[in-house]
Parts: sequence; structure tokens; C-alpha cells
Amino acid sequence: MVIKGELTFPGDKSISHRSLMFAALANGESRLSNSSTGVDVQSTRKCLEACGIKIWNDGNDVIVKGGTFSNPSEPLDCGNSGTTTRLLLGLLAGQGINATFIGDDSLSSRPMNRILDPLSKMGLISESNNGKLPITIHKSELSGIKYESPVASAQVKSAVLLAGLGASGKTSVTEPTLSRDHTEKMLTGLGVNIIVDGLSTTILKSSSPLSSFKLSVPGDPSTAAFFATAAALVPKSEIKLNHVLANPTRTGFFSALEKMGGGMACINQWEETGELICDLKIFHQPLQSINIDEKDVPGLIDELPIIAILATQAKGKTEIRGAKELRVKECDRIHAICKNLKKMGADIEELDDGFIINGPTNLNGAEIETFHDHRIAMAFSIAELVADGDVELDNPECASISYPEFYDVLERLKQ
Ligand code: S3P
Repeated sequence: MVIKGELTFPGDKSISHRSLMFAALANGESRLSNSSTGVDVQSTRKCLEACGIKIWNDGNDVIVKGGTFSNPSEPLDCGNSGTTTRLLLGLLAGQGINATFIGDDSLSSRPMNRILDPLSKMGLISESNNGKLPITIHKSELSGIKYESPVASAQVKSAVLLAGLGASGKTSVTEPTLSRDHTEKMLTGLGVNIIVDGLSTTILKSSSPLSSFKLSVPGDPSTAAFFATAAALVPKSEIKLNHVLANPTRTGFFSALEKMGGGMACINQWEETGELICDLKIFHQPLQSINIDEKDVPGLIDELPIIAILATQAKGKTEIRGAKELRVKECDRIHAICKNLKKMGADIEELDDGFIINGPTNLNGAEIETFHDHRIAMAFSIAELVADGDVELDNPECASISYPEFYDVLERLKQ
């Protein structure tokens, strides 16, 4: 079996969430094309609709009639989505909305004080279940703050900046390492007064609503990474990945694959609505190990499960450190990666903030615990391509959180 073909992906999940939210803030009708088809982005859409924003489909496009938010009459169900919860906490706090946020078991176990702490410093009155969901926010007068975030998190940065849109004065956030910068880029493109200076971003209260816009969301590089890995791992494989977002805060996986010796060529690269986009060719070549440390982590945080699979087939010792944030994602991804890869026969050692893999090793089929985490399900489906025997996932359906079409597309590529 080889992996061959050409793929174009639905829109990047981070940009899709933001485009719905920013369109909701804008006066008039915005048109979004190629929005993510994942369940997470549907959670954002439903929450915005519950706040009085009209959203409908026109063919493959999504139309958002934004402007005025109202208090939702029911709790906002954020499902499995950390981005929905955290960004909407900031955005709705800034718009003076009363709302209760709820989510599934995974989301209800994730830390939310990283958002509530800065928002309460801005004046937000809220209640939470010990820093977790359910959270209720009350209409409060917010004032700008200077916030030093202890974590390199785009969700924290974005929540504070979005609250800052409705807070008096200036709001600034400084982060320890640059996290994905879509909020800053998109708001700048929409004419918001926002200044980026190294690791600090400052936003001014916006006195007028945003103007409506049209956006075609670039393909999701985090989804592309699974298929790139499939082609990189299986001998004689080659695929073309079209229209992939190449924002430098998101290309850590592709840089890592290249450093590991993976076959990669950028065929075209261009800019579209302020973002770099590229068409890529990925092909099989022998792989070697890589070291990843804290400064690299934000650029490939969501790709570490699939990098672990690559590392099992690479020659030498791969060390991933400084990735403690993986423990508070949709599941404890360090535990999920180590437990499942051990079951498949990999040589892996669990660290507090990462793992060490010695490769290459033959992987065998196994029953895999996904922990209902989409990226664990997709990573181990790719591992099956180089394993002797079948990989049985306990919950394959969870891939729909980011890419419902995942298994069909993977089948199509197998030749
Ligand atoms: C995201 C930021 C990252 C990432 C998540 C999406 C975003 O989370 O893991 O999948 O869209 O802002 P953190 O900001 O918590 O690192």
C-alpha cells in the first residue's frame, strides 16, 4: 500500500472560530467560505446564534449578520471546544453579556482560571466551579489592563484582547513565547486599533462596530499534518496538499518534518487576506530523530501527537520537552501518547513535560484508547499505516471534532 493523491482541506479551525466571532461583531452581513466542517466550529456558531446573531448557509458559504448581542436564554453549550469557551468568555464579557458556559466532560475538566484571572482584573464579575465549567459571567464595566500571561496561549491572549475591545482604555497582553497570531492579524485587517510589539499586543476600546467582510478560510495545517505524516512514513508515497495555511506561527510541524529528513517541497506560496498560503508536496524519505523544546512548542502544539508517531519511525532519540500544556488539552495528551504507543511496542519514556522516543521500532496493532480526543484518534489511525496488525480505536467518531471527513479521505489516498 502507498499513499498517493491530492488534497484540499476545509478551513483552518482557529481562523474559522475567529471569523464567525468577528463577523458577529461586525455590522451587516459577512460571507465566509471554506469554513471548518468540524463540530468545534459548529459549537461556536450555535453559541453565537444563542446570543441573537443570525447565521445561515448559502451554498457552501456561511453568512453572518452581526451587530448586536443579546443575553442567551439557555446556557451556552461549548461542547468539546476550548477555543469557543475561552474566546467567547472574553468577547461576551467585553460586550456586557450575562451568560453561563457549559461543555462536555473533557471541556469541563480543563483550566479556565487562565481566562477568568485576567478578566476579573479587568472588572468582570463571574462564578465558576473552582476555575472550571460551568462558568457564569455577569454584565460588568471592564477597564483595560497590562497582562503578563504566564502561558504562551493564543486562547488566553485572544480572550483578553477581545474583552479589551469593550473595555475602557488600553488593554495589553504579553506572552512568554509567540503563540498563533490570528486574532491580531485578522483584527488588524478589519481596521481595529491594535499594536503588536514583539511579544506584546495592545488593543484600544473600539468605539464603532467592525465592518462586515468576506473571507475564504485557508486550509487547516493541523489537519494537513496527519496526511503529510502518512506520505512521509509509507515507502514510495507522495501527496500534494493544496492551499494550506502557512502562517509562521503554525508551521512548526512542517519545519520539524523537514528537519527529520521528510521529503517536502513548497510548490507555490502566496498571500491572501494577510495570511501566507502554500501548496506542498510531501514524499517518503528515511527519517531521523529531532529535539523539540519549550520555545518550539507553541508553533506545533496541536501536532505533537502526530510528531510522536513520526518519531517512532525515525532513527535515533527524539526528545520532546517543555510541552506541559499537552496535559491540559482535550485529554492529557502526554499520557495518551505514551500509553498507546507503549501498547503498540514503541520505545517511549514519559516525562512530566513531554516524552523521549527511541526509534525506529516496529509497531504492532493494538486497541487504542482515544480518550475521546480527535487528535489522538487521527494520529493512531496514521500509525496503523506502518503497524503490523490493526489499530482498533475505542471512539473513532471523535475525529469529527476537527475533521469529519478524515477516514473517508484517508481511505481514498490508500493505493
Ligand atoms: C488555539 C490555540 C491553542 C491550540 C488550540 C487552538 C486557538 O490552544 O492548542 O487547538 O485557536 O487559539 P492554547 O492557546 O491553549 O495553546
